[in-house]
This record gives sequence, C-alpha cells and structure tokens, in this order.
Amino acid sequence: MICSSLQLHNFRNIEQAVFSFDEGVNIFLGKNAQGKTNIIEALWLFSANRSFRSASETDLIRIGQESALTRTEFYKNGRHQNEEIRFFSGKNREILKNGVKIKPSEALGVFHCVLFFPEHLLLVKSGPEERRKFLDIAISQVKPQYDRLLKDYSSLLARRNYILKNQRRDLLETLDLYDMRLAKIGSILSVTRQTYLKRLEKHAAKITEEISSGKETTDFEFRSFCETGDSRFTEEQFLLKLEKNKEEDLRLGYTSMGSHRDDFCIKINHLPAKSYGSQGQQRSCVMALKLAEAELLKEETGEYPIMLFDDVFSELDYTRKAYITEKIKGKQVFISTCEKGRGFRTARVFRVENGKIKG
Ligand SMILES: Nc1ncnc2c1ncn2[C@@H]1O[C@H](COP(=O)(O)OP(=O)(O)O)[C@@H](O)[C@H]1O
Ligand SMILES: [Mg+2]
Repeated sequence: MICSSLQLHNFRNIEQAVFSFDEGVNIFLGKNAQGKTNIIEALWLFSANRSFRSASETDLIRIGQESALTRTEFYKNGRHQNEEIRFFSGKNREILKNGVKIKPSEALGVFHCVLFFPEHLLLVKSGPEERRKFLDIAISQVKPQYDRLLKDYSSLLARRNYILKNQRRDLLETLDLYDMRLAKIGSILSVTRQTYLKRLEKHAAKITEEISSGKETTDFEFRSFCETGDSRFTEEQFLLKLEKNKEEDLRLGYTSMGSHRDDFCIKINHLPAKSYGSQGQQRSCVMALKLAEAELLKEETGEYPIMLFDDVFSELDYTRKAYITEKIKGKQVFISTCEKGRGFRTARVFRVENGKIKG
C-alpha cells in the first residue's frame, strides 16, 4: 500500500497542512512538542478506530475549534482511493471512503499500517491489557469482522456481570443463556487470537534470529481460559469453565474467567522477556513483534502496510537500527524524529514547527 497524500485541518495543533508523500521514506523532523506525533496519529487513525494516545475524540480537535478533518489518498492493490474523517466535539466521527459515507466498523481493514512507538515496550513490561489491545487491533486489520465479535462479547460480558452482581431472581434464571452465548463468541475470539499469534510467532522468531545473528530465539505463549499446554479453546471447554466457576463468580459479582482475560507471554530464549530479558532484548522482541505484524499483513493482503515510526529510531542501538533500516527498504515508511537523519539516502523531509509544516 502507498499513501500518496494527507490533508489536515484543525487536527491537534495543526491548523492546515497538505502533504505529498514519497513512496519510500518520509521524515517528520522537528523539536519536541511541535506536532510530529500528531501527524503520525492522523495517519494511524485511518486504520484503527482508536488513537494510540487519548481516548477522547475531542482531544483530536484543535483547541477552540468545533471540528477537524483529515483526508488521505492512497493506492491499494493498484487502486487509487481516498478516505476522509470528520471529527466533531460531542458527536461521533463521520467517515467517507471514496466519497461515500461508511460506518467506523467498515473503515477497518481499508488503510493498513503498522505503528512503532516508544510505549510499545509496555507490551513486554506491563499487564495483559496492553497485549490484548495489540492483538485486537492487529487482528481487526486483517479480519474486520473480528471487531464485531469483540463488541458482542463485551456487551454479553457486561450483561452477565450485571446479573452476577445484582442477583435478581428473574435475571439469574437467564444466566445459562448468557453462558451459552458467551462461550460461543468467546471461544471464537480466543481461537482467532491463538491462530493469529501462532502465525505472528513464525515471522517474529525468524526476525529475532536475524537481529541476534542466531543467538536468540523468541516465542509467544498464548494463555486463555484453558490451562497452559491445553490448546483446545473450544466452546464446550469455555462452557465447562463457566459452570465450574459459577459459584465463585456469584460470590465475586463478576465473570472471573474468559476471553477477556486472554494474554500471551513474550519469551526470549524460552524464558519470559519481562523478567529475564535485558532492555535491549525486550526492544528486539517488540520490534520483531511489530515487523512480524507487517509480514502477516503482507501475507493477507498481498501488499506491505505503511510503517509508522514515532520517535523510536533515536533509542535503537547501531545493530538494531541497521537491521530495521535494511528491513524497511522498498517499503513506505514515516518517521518522526528530532534528529537530523543519517542512514537514508533518499527521503522526503518535512520540517515541523509549532504545527506548521515546511516540506
Ligand atoms: N487539540 C489540540 N489543540 C491544539 N494543540 C494541541 C492539541 N492536542 C495537542 N496539541 C499540542 O500539540 C503539541 C504536541 O504535539 P506532538 O505531535 O505530540 O509533538 P512532537 O513533535 O513532540 O511529536 C503540544 O504542543 C500540544 O499542546
Ligand atoms: Mg512525538
């Protein structure tokens, strides 16, 4: 996929900007707090329905304004397309694909990108929520219908939790019905995550081996509602677990097991990277994970996604930087940085200063 242009209006601190991109390397260069990440964020928002920063839509609109607009033109499978998003304060966004209004769920899987940003180290370091979020967003890009399942699961879970907490007799009678529906959707979700992770692992293992010249291996161990080692996350198993935990759930007032607890352990040389890996090894794991995501998108769609690197180049050591520079050759990349770049022979540089762009 190639993104040829981006237009921003009242987006974050950018009043007005038009970018015409290179098919290779594009660099957003500027001091801190000038608007570089804002541009990366605007590109990212075409592929995911949520930002990697604030949760509130209003934050995206330039302070003092009522609405914002982002628009991009891109080539996917040789077809020229465009997408426009209009953000409003206190109202849902409007999305237009090739001039036709579409629902946010229909915008998934249209514009493909993979994002690298400093907080991704949290994928190794923090709790399961970050890793689930990563999986969910990554899978939604290749399987847009997955997002619907996620939403259905969340509302069923919220309903079940309400019943468990409330314990009204008439509602408790409906619990079995909720269990069945939750088991049906939950098992599909967990199996989809497991399958995706397996495919991701194949690519990531190869990448880690390459970065470390064969000294390191990486693997991901999926953890779901069954014991580790038992990889049959079926509807029957899910239902059995719900039955087994029912008394406990009634006591707790919420659902203590299920797909909402899924996680995976990132391992380096067969040991958890979180506790055994050095900072450098953790960085390599995350880099491998994200590069693997791009490889998988290529497998699925026939084209590489665009790659967004927000502020991650400066902290990489020489070996990793060299590896990634080699790996992204021939792909379209967007890099935000405060340092004048070296290492890219041809790159289009956009200077970013206080929300204004000089290209
Ligand atoms: N909704 C908004 N309206 C106006 N300015 C904003 C808005 N959101 C963020 N900013 C400003 O954008 C700047 C940060 O931009 P960012 O892209 O994160 O900087 P950097 O160049 O360091 O990546 C800050 O000065 C911040 O105050
Ligand atoms: Mg930034």
